[in-house]
Amino acid sequence: MKILKSRRRYTTYMSGLAAVALAALAMSGCGTGLLGTAAGPSAVNLRTAGNYAILAKSGISNVSTSAITGDLGLSPAQGSYITGFSLTQDSSTVFDTSSQVTGKLYAANYGVPTPATLTSAIADMQTAYTDAAGRSSPDHTELGAGEIGGLTLKPGLYKWGTGVDISINVTLSGGSSDVWIFQIGQGLTLATGAKVVLSGGAQAKNVFWQCAGDITVNSTAVLQGIALSQTAIALKTGATANGRLFAQTDVSLEQSTVTEP
Ligand SMILES: *[C@@H]1O[C@H](CO)[C@@H](O)[C@H](O)[C@H]1NC(C)=O
Ligand SMILES: *[C@@H]1O[C@H](CO)[C@@H](O)[C@H](O)[C@H]1NC(C)=O
Ligand SMILES: *[C@@H]1O[C@H](CO)[C@@H](O)[C@H](O)[C@H]1NC(C)=O
Repeated sequence: MKILKSRRRYTTYMSGLAAVALAALAMSGCGTGLLGTAAGPSAVNLRTAGNYAILAKSGISNVSTSAITGDLGLSPAQGSYITGFSLTQDSSTVFDTSSQVTGKLYAANYGVPTPATLTSAIADMQTAYTDAAGRSSPDHTELGAGEIGGLTLKPGLYKWGTGVDISINVTLSGGSSDVWIFQIGQGLTLATGAKVVLSGGAQAKNVFWQCAGDITVNSTAVLQGIALSQTAIALKTGATANGRLFAQTDVSLEQSTVTEP
């Protein structure tokens, strides 16, 4: 209650200041720091899906040397749909390893308890998607008509009925516990070399990209956050994802780097 009261007082006080100063403060994320509370919606609970860097239902493919930090899970598709990785089966049969994955690879036909563990993780991934997609009362709708390159975005819930393009860097500015949820009606595309830049202490684990279509991270582009696609996620040559890739069809990587938060 104390915090709510002081937030009201703060808001009343702030509303007296010039609009320009208020906008600058909000854009810089300083408002959050002064209040000492998280701004934006509450984070999406990933439950057991949060144990994986990559989850997919139909396939995970790799071309040339990718570097992944975190575990990979594929279900209901079988291990033969993890392609392009030089897999080594652990003697337990519960997981595989790969020289370029700092973590373990799991598929639905591996030894017990992997099948049940993956069924839960995939269900949790879909629950997270539904949670993100179902958040109501967006702070911004159709921002930039779907082109957010060049913008600085403060914490909040953003919604588009269309796809979203990031043609040049976009900056997410806010504190370490602030949350961004992006609800995207079609696909998300990062152009070649375009980066999601986190500033002010913002963390990838608090950024959620809920996408009804494909997520494409073009060559050398950088995605930050939890990618929740109802279809596929593709990282092109030299692309980087700092976060998690959760696809309801397949994930494809080309000489890409994926690092869990
Ligand atoms: C990806 O595939 C290439 C062959 O196309 C292979 O040399 C490389 O080791 C694979 N990367 C991983 C992470 O397994
Ligand atoms: C995009 O962000 C990166 C990393 O912060 C920076 O090095 C690069 O210069 C930026 N590119 C543009 C076009 O602003
Ligand atoms: C992104 O990659 C796709 C697929 O390779 C390509 O068709 C598209 O032109 C690229 N877009 C940009 C803006 O780089």
